[in-house]
Amino acid sequence: MPFTIAIDGPAASGKGTIARAIAQHFGFHHLDTGLLYRATGAKGGDPVEAARALRPIDMERDDLRSAEAGQAASRVAAIPEVREALVDFQRRFAMQEPGAVLDGRDIGTVICPEAALKLYVVASDEVRAARRAAELGADPARMLAELRERDARDSARATAPLRPADDAVLLDTSALSIEDAVARAIAEVARVQAG
Ligand code: DC
Repeated sequence: MPFTIAIDGPAASGKGTIARAIAQHFGFHHLDTGLLYRATGAKGGDPVEAARALRPIDMERDDLRSAEAGQAASRVAAIPEVREALVDFQRRFAMQEPGAVLDGRDIGTVICPEAALKLYVVASDEVRAARRAAELGADPARMLAELRERDARDSARATAPLRPADDAVLLDTSALSIEDAVARAIAEVARVQAG
């Protein structure tokens, strides 16, 4: 049975960094599911068709990390048929041996409700905005507004909204260095592996 780890949380909470580090540490596969929605939004045209026709090469565009691509992703992600078109790929990815780490918004609640470990990663709005501003070379106040708008849309949508699974372990990275946040996440995985 492959070992699946679900990592969810709002934008810039640190979940992507933690997911990549866990995957590297344990030799697991990693999928940043936000990229599926970013690539769908960036394709333009009918989002449902775009999601159904998504190919790995679409995830390699170099404009997917921008704040605009994040907003477009958040908008197409509210369309139930878009989400449905992306479910099978994510579930197949999660079943790979020896294990897989998926990060997103609905991994623990919808995509992998049977995951061995579910982490819900949060950080204060201000910390997240400062991180994203540093990453993109953008204005922190603009990033704060952008993140809040996106989180509100992602949390309020009817299908697979952003929320922790009932059995998720909460990890607040507001006051943690990347190294400390990763160490805590690795300790959680080790705890579950030890049974
Ligand atoms: O993780 P990210 O910032 O790259 O995600 C971009 C948007 O995609 C996010 O605002 C909402 C959507 N998303 C989603 O609805 N479900 C996921 N599993 C991942 C992302």
